[in-house]
Amino acid sequence: MFVRHALPGERVRAVITDGKSTSTFWRADATEVLTASANRVDPPCPWAGPGRCGGCDFQHVSVIAQRELRATVVREQLQRLAGIERDVEVEEVPGAPEGLGWRTRVQYAVDAAGRAGLRRHRSHEVVPVDRCRIAHPLVVGTGVTDRLWPGVTSVEVSASVAEGEALVLPDGRGAGALTEVVGDRSFRVTGGGFWQVHPGAAATLLGAVLDGLDPRAGETALDLYAGVGLFAASIADLVGVTGRVTAVESDRVAAEDARHNLAHLPMVKVERGRVDHVLRRPHLQRADLVVLDPPRSGAGKSVVSLLSRVRARRIVYVACDPAALARDLRWFAERDYRLTSLRAFDMFPMTAHVECVAVLEPAGKVS
Ligand SMILES: C[S@@+](CC[C@H](N)C(=O)[O-])C[C@H]1O[C@@H](n2cnc3c(N)ncnc32)[C@H](O)[C@@H]1O
Repeated sequence: MFVRHALPGERVRAVITDGKSTSTFWRADATEVLTASANRVDPPCPWAGPGRCGGCDFQHVSVIAQRELRATVVREQLQRLAGIERDVEVEEVPGAPEGLGWRTRVQYAVDAAGRAGLRRHRSHEVVPVDRCRIAHPLVVGTGVTDRLWPGVTSVEVSASVAEGEALVLPDGRGAGALTEVVGDRSFRVTGGGFWQVHPGAAATLLGAVLDGLDPRAGETALDLYAGVGLFAASIADLVGVTGRVTAVESDRVAAEDARHNLAHLPMVKVERGRVDHVLRRPHLQRADLVVLDPPRSGAGKSVVSLLSRVRARRIVYVACDPAALARDLRWFAERDYRLTSLRAFDMFPMTAHVECVAVLEPAGKVS
């Protein structure tokens, strides 16, 4: 039974919310805590709790204990799905020490009366959350929840902390772009295009990816699921003019942004298309380095299979779902790529989500 709003070791009274007598698992909400865990805190958000906003999972858990819970999840998925026994620490990401005010992208749902809010857990019902406590102040400052949105079903808000600006896109539509900054580099991100959500995430992930790849002058690299070119730009600096970087991105607007952001780097080429198609092109059959940062569903068997033929000396896998990562790691292991390092980052405080950066090397080279 999966019991939301409870903690390991607690005794609670719970109400079953999903499942029949024949189900293999049930879901429940803890409605009364009989014996509380030492890790329990008063939720900073008044909208958190049974039957209320479904956005956060861990408002009732201390920030440190949240990280331990996420580490346990990553450890368990690696063990169960990939047969890998490994200790995991979830590292803090700078910018939100209390775990609040970090979300620079929020998709509000709009109810039939035109009120914007957030969805109840596993439901289409809109909870009229007036101020989301994990949303960045720039997002809250747009006042999306202070007015009505007749005829609209959702409102997407994206904010750039570097610019101090936010874009509001009713039903995801509208013009405009944000400029995101990492180190001394700027990236154009058009409309509601993908960018890391936590303000410290892009720099943290970039650092972990470069450490994992350790690019050298003259090497060839693939940046797969490249978004607007965050990783490709810095890899290009390190492989230099004698090297080559191919960034692969399927979304038309993101690929255009990547071309714009990387135009000053002659060793970079952006190829628009799905990774599982583009990787079959003859000139992409070999590479020294690969970074891949797929959506939640992971890379999948066919991409893992194609990648194992590229003969890279390092593959760095950035993953937002530890279960999909663990499944893919097992397929990599069957193709003689071994996990040599794994870092996990607290990029989604108050939620059960965690970001991992896994480094893989050909089995023969691992001592
Ligand atoms: C998690 S984002 C990573 C973006 C980038 N690495 C970053 O950190 O900014 C995943 C990206 O993959 C793209 N994408 C999704 N499925 C894809 C596919 N099958 N082939 C190529 N790109 C894909 C999405 O459009 C999105 O830009």
